[in-house]
Amino acid sequence: MIEIQIIPLVYDEDMLKLHHSIYVPWDITKNPHMAISGVTGTGKTYLVKQILARIGLYLPTSEITICDFKGDESYTFLENCERYHRFEACMTGFDDFYNGFLHRQAGLDTSRTLRLLMFDEWSSFLNFLDKKQADEYRKNLAILLNLGRSFNFHILLSQQVLYAEDFSKARQNFNTIITLGNPDKTVVNMVYSDFSENIDNDRGLGTGYILTNGSDFRKIVVPTVTNIEKMDFYIKRAVEYGT
Ligand SMILES: Nc1ncnc2c1ncn2[C@@H]1O[C@H](COP(=O)(O)OP(=O)(O)OP(=O)(O)O)[C@@H](O)[C@H]1O
Ligand SMILES: [Mg+2]
Repeated sequence: MIEIQIIPLVYDEDMLKLHHSIYVPWDITKNPHMAISGVTGTGKTYLVKQILARIGLYLPTSEITICDFKGDESYTFLENCERYHRFEACMTGFDDFYNGFLHRQAGLDTSRTLRLLMFDEWSSFLNFLDKKQADEYRKNLAILLNLGRSFNFHILLSQQVLYAEDFSKARQNFNTIITLGNPDKTVVNMVYSDFSENIDNDRGLGTGYILTNGSDFRKIVVPTVTNIEKMDFYIKRAVEYGT
């Protein structure tokens, strides 16, 4: 049995306008995988770090793996952590996470603790690999997206655009999709077609949209981080937990 796992995610903008600082919750048990998109500089990494820190804070036995293909400066404090990987080391990072999943699926790991892989710039990573390797990684990600939930294995992916071809038809398995900034027409048609009349071109830094299970659509505001050291502390704790 997996315990209920819920973390506060971002503010609901309509509620904030009514002076209620109410968070949209992420029920990880029910909605196992999340994708965050938005062009460069819209605040994806800023939001992802908050989410990772909240997992570390509220679900303290979680084990987080970070694959940061671009090698963002924002994660330099994790430099010596076993489950932190940059550039080509993202291959090892992904493989370790996937093997952990296979291990649990085979009944060799009877724990049900939450394991989460945060992958930043999955598309660029696939482009960096040769075709055969890319197909293999795409296939294994699809397996994690399809089967991970029952084993408490989760994907949090952050990248500029969610191209369908990067997910081996498994894009629908991202139950929660966040777009920061103003999505262009292609993204609106691809992800938000049922809500296009609610998409205004009014999104600035730290604002965007969330769509859960294709039906729950909201405008969101990303909270401001007041204590970076504390945030980094909880991220690091979850990246090191169990190692
Ligand atoms: N909600 C926010 N409030 C205040 N500052 C923010 C917010 N979101 C992002 N920023 C700042 O904006 C800049 C760009 O954010 P960030 O690096 O997260 O963007 P990104 O979408 O990850 O870009 P890239 O695709 O290039 O990695 C950073 O300096 C970050 O600190
Ligand atoms: Mg970034």
